[in-house]
Amino acid sequence: MLTVLLKLPRRIAGKIRNVYVIAVKKMKLTFAFNLHRFALYLRVKSCRLLSGGEKSPQAASYEFSNNLLTLHKKIYNLLLLQRNHYKHYAYFSGYPYQSLGILNVFGDRGTEERFEAYELAKWIKSSDTILDIGCNCGFMSIFTSFRTGCSAEGIDINPYMISIGNEVAAYLNLSDKVKLITGDFKEFKCAKIYSVIFSFATHWTDDKNYRVSLDEHFSKLHTLLQSNGLLVFESHYNDVGQESFYDSINRSSELFRIEEKKILENGCREFYYMRKID
Ligand SMILES: C[S@@+](CC[C@H](N)C(=O)[O-])C[C@H]1O[C@@H](n2cnc3c(N)ncnc32)[C@H](O)[C@@H]1O
Repeated sequence: MLTVLLKLPRRIAGKIRNVYVIAVKKMKLTFAFNLHRFALYLRVKSCRLLSGGEKSPQAASYEFSNNLLTLHKKIYNLLLLQRNHYKHYAYFSGYPYQSLGILNVFGDRGTEERFEAYELAKWIKSSDTILDIGCNCGFMSIFTSFRTGCSAEGIDINPYMISIGNEVAAYLNLSDKVKLITGDFKEFKCAKIYSVIFSFATHWTDDKNYRVSLDEHFSKLHTLLQSNGLLVFESHYNDVGQESFYDSINRSSELFRIEEKKILENGCREFYYMRKID
């Protein structure tokens, strides 16, 4: 392979190399996804072995494993639909951007790990109402509601990720507390205001469906927050070290007071708790 590439003009060799790297990445992901499904199958099998069937005293664990398989079938079908019909860029080669360990949902970024790293249990109260922008499957909101009892609304432009989120919220009996809708945040208008906003890795998006200036983003979030409300903001890798990013953060001091800043993922991401100034 290498000797063939060396003989080709540099531009063509570069393109072939890129196609090769992408194909290998996709193969690895497909393999990981199927390993994950197999692990789920083993988990369900072991649950059934222990429960001894529908009428046994441990029937609850039998029912749990049956329901989990049904949920995963629905998720699998939604991912297939996305692969065949979604016209935009799909993150993580079409698998969810977020994983959810408690229900074995495969994805790129661990929800439970993020919940701990962001110390959300310390910042979110059961009386809070969260708006989660570009929420993907909404797992950050779902898990935060699961752990703290808060209510949440999430919006994402990808209808397949939203459907997965709504299935998971229903599975966890959280449909009354967590509402996820498909929509474009650029068009989002709401009579309601929120006590907390999650803006996680979403102030500009790789799929190019959301490209506004960070100043504009902060101004809009300011109008959607209640007095003294909390903006929980996560950067992208590419923001770190960018002068324009810090200029915008500094300008936002007219709208928000930074209460805490964290450096995460070995210095690759920044994380801010920002309190609304009225
Ligand atoms: C990098 S992911 C971040 C997902 C989530 N906030 C998180 O951190 O786990 C960006 C998300 O924004 C969504 N998105 C992109 N443009 C959008 C828009 N105009 N309105 C709503 N969601 C959008 C994408 O579909 C994707 O799920």
